[in-house]
Amino acid sequence: MRSLLVVAGLLFSASAFAQTPSVQERLNAIADDPVALRQAVDAGKQVTFFCTNCHGENGVSVIPEVPNLAGQNPAYLLEQIRKFGSGERKNTFMQGLIKVLKDEERLQTAHYYASMPVPPSPANPALVARGKVLFTKLCVRCHGERAHGGELYPRLAGQQIPYLQVSIQRYRDGTGIRNDKLMAIATSTLKNDDITAIAHYLTQLP
Ligand code: HEC
Ligand code: HEC
Repeated sequence: MRSLLVVAGLLFSASAFAQTPSVQERLNAIADDPVALRQAVDAGKQVTFFCTNCHGENGVSVIPEVPNLAGQNPAYLLEQIRKFGSGERKNTFMQGLIKVLKDEERLQTAHYYASMPVPPSPANPALVARGKVLFTKLCVRCHGERAHGGELYPRLAGQQIPYLQVSIQRYRDGTGIRNDKLMAIATSTLKNDDITAIAHYLTQLP
């Protein structure tokens, strides 16, 4: 009898596990369902009304040190929200703010911003040419030919120059504000001038 109960308990917990998809799986399920996606995007617009103060109307930032969220990969956005929440990524304001977002609101936020267009910004043509060479050599294999990123990698095309510069330098310098081994290796040989050139190249990409 006792062993039967154990077996039943194991079966129950196994099925409960199978029925509780991760937040990431739910993000993908919503993306595959046009009606659910529409609803998530609409709800996300409401959830993010406060975010517009810094990330701009529809996720196109008006403050150069604040990243655009428009056009960003939804899986990446969700992962960064998680990292702020857990303290793996440090920014006092964002860490405090993100804690109030429930799982459902995080999914809606990610889908909302991902669905918005991000316009390219002007850049210095000489720096663009130099940045393109560096980006092609060191960054394309993860961030993609057009810097649109993918499931695991952020979009960089159309991002703001100052934000790109600061972010890339932080990975290179291992400041602890934001750590990523892959990014630390990829950026280890870059001088500040190289980083500026790459930022000019990326900001003008559509
Ligand atoms: C007071 C200004 C401010 C407000 C309001 C704000 N943010 Fe941010 N956010 C920032 C700054 C600054 C960064 C970049 C931090 C860094 O340098 O790492 C950031 C980064 C992010 C990132 C990471 C983007 C990337 O490309 O890695 C996400 C996602 C994000 N914010 C979501 C939100 C959401 C959702 C809200 C509203 C609930 C919000 N933010 C409100 C200032 C703000
Ligand atoms: C081996 C894969 C890989 C390579 C190569 C790579 N990256 Fe990344 N990059 C990543 C990953 C993964 C992240 C997200 C890390 C995190 O969560 O902080 C990232 C994040 C970034 C970010 C932050 C974006 C944002 O919105 O905050 C920037 C900027 C960036 N990479 C630029 C570059 C540049 C420039 C190069 C080339 C010098 C490069 N990356 C090469 C994998 C890579």
